[in-house]
Amino acid sequence: MPSQVDTTSQLTKKISVRSPLVSAAMDTVTEGRMAIAMARHGGLGVLHRNLSIEDQAHQVDLVKRSESGMITDPVTIGPDATLEDLDRQCGTYRVSGLPVVDDGRRLLGIITNRDLRFVPVREWAARRVRDVMTPMPLVTGPVGIERADAAALLAKHKVEKLPLVDDGRLAGLITVKDFVKTEQYPNATKDGEGRLRVGAAVGFYGDAWQRATALVDAGVDVLVVDTANGHARAMLDMVRRLKSDPATSRVQVVGGNIATREGAQALVDAGVDAVKVGVGPGSICTTRVVAGVGVPQVTAIWLASQACHRAGVPVIGDGGLQYSGDIAKALVAGADTVMLGGLLAGCAESPGELVLRNGKQYKRYRGMGSVGAMASRGRVSYSKDRYFQADVDSDDKIVPEGIEGQVPYRGPLAAVAHQLVGGLHQSMFYVGAHTIADLKQRGRFVRITTAGLKESHPHDIQMTVEAPNYDLQ
Ligand code: XMP
Repeated sequence: MPSQVDTTSQLTKKISVRSPLVSAAMDTVTEGRMAIAMARHGGLGVLHRNLSIEDQAHQVDLVKRSESGMITDPVTIGPDATLEDLDRQCGTYRVSGLPVVDDGRRLLGIITNRDLRFVPVREWAARRVRDVMTPMPLVTGPVGIERADAAALLAKHKVEKLPLVDDGRLAGLITVKDFVKTEQYPNATKDGEGRLRVGAAVGFYGDAWQRATALVDAGVDVLVVDTANGHARAMLDMVRRLKSDPATSRVQVVGGNIATREGAQALVDAGVDAVKVGVGPGSICTTRVVAGVGVPQVTAIWLASQACHRAGVPVIGDGGLQYSGDIAKALVAGADTVMLGGLLAGCAESPGELVLRNGKQYKRYRGMGSVGAMASRGRVSYSKDRYFQADVDSDDKIVPEGIEGQVPYRGPLAAVAHQLVGGLHQSMFYVGAHTIADLKQRGRFVRITTAGLKESHPHDIQMTVEAPNYDLQ
C-alpha cells in the first residue's frame, strides 16, 4: 500500500531525513518559521543568507530552541525585568513563560501565562517579574532525569514546565509542549538532544567565515556553501577550510551548485558531506538564457551521481520541480533528496505577506539572482556573491540571473508537504518500491515526445475544481 512505504533518505553523509525534502535558501522561502515547519515534517529548511550575520544566527537559535528533549541552555529572565520585557522575550521565542534566575543563574521562580492572566496589560510596563512570578519552591527535577520520570512529574503536579536544577542553579528545562510535539510530529528531523535540525547558507566572499562561525555557535547542523557555480576555486577553498577547521568540523557541509560529473568530483575531493546539483533549472532562473550555461536537471543529477555515489556522498537535486511526481524522477535519476523553492514559496510559513489579485491569493517569489535580491535599494544585499558579483558597486551594473514574481498561496506547509510526500508514496507504490533505495533501483525512465507530454497533463477539458496538487502552469 502507498501508505506503508518508507521515504527515509540520506541528506548528508551523517544526517538522514524521513522525508527527502529540503526548502531552498531563498529570502522568499526559508526563514525560521519555514525551517521549523520543514524539520517538523521530516525534511530540513536551509535559512537564506540575504540578511545580516546576527539576524541569520538568531534564526538558527529560534529553530534550535523551538522544541527539544531537554533544553540545556533555556532562555531566562531576571526578577527586575518588567512584564513588558517578558512579553517581548516570550514573543521572540514563541514560548509561554520563562524561568526566573538571578545573576548567578540561581532559580528564583517561574513566570508563565498563568501568572499574567490577572494582571491588566496596561500595568505590564510598570510591574516587575519578581512581584508576579510563582516563587520557589517549585516542582523541579535533577539534571540527567529520565524522560519518562520527567513526564510523570509533569503529570503528577499538573505543571507545564519542569526546571532542572543542580545545587540550586538552573541547568535545564523540560516542557510538556515538547512531549506533545514529539507525539504530533513523529517524523521530525532532530539532533541527538531532541532539537529540530536546521541548515543555513553561507557564501565564500568577504565575511563568509565570520558568518559560518556565528551560525555554528548558534547550533546550526548543516552549512550550505551556496553559490551559482560550485566548481570555482574560491568556493572549493571555503569547503576545504570548513571541513578542516576544528571549530566547524561538528557540522555537515554541503557544496554547490554544480551540473557536471567533474564539478561533483571537485566537491567530493574538497570533502563535502553532500553535493547540491542544479545550474539553471529553477522556476525563477534565467542563468541558461542570460549566460547560456547549464545542464537539463535530470541529466545533471545523473552526471553528478556518477561521481558522488562511488564516494558515498549524497546528492541534493536543487530546482526545477513543478509537481510531486518530479520528486521520484529526481531520485531515480540519482538524487537522494530534493530542494524546493517555487513549490514552497506559497506556504503560510514562507516569509512575506499575502497579495490579493483578481480575487486570488498569492505570495511573492523571487530568484536570489534577481534585481530585487541583489540590488541594495537603500539596504545591504548580502548575497550578490552567490552570482560572483560582490565587486559590482552600483545597482545598475548588476547582471541579474533571476526574475521576481508571485506564486499561488497554498496554505500551511503541513498540507503542501502531505501532498508532496503523498505523491512520492504513490510513485513508490507504482514502481513496487518499499524504500528509497528500491525506488532508485527499480525506477526506469521512458523517453517521451511533446505529444506524450501533452497527453500526460489533463487535456481536452476545462478544469472547474481546483486540485490540491495540480495547477495549470
Ligand atoms: P525552484 O524551481 O524550486 O528552484 O523554484 C529553486 C532553486 O533555484 C535556484 N535559484 C536561482 N537560480 N537564478 C538562478 O539561476 C536565481 O535568481 C535563483 N534563485 C534561486 C536555487 O538553487 C534554488 O534552490
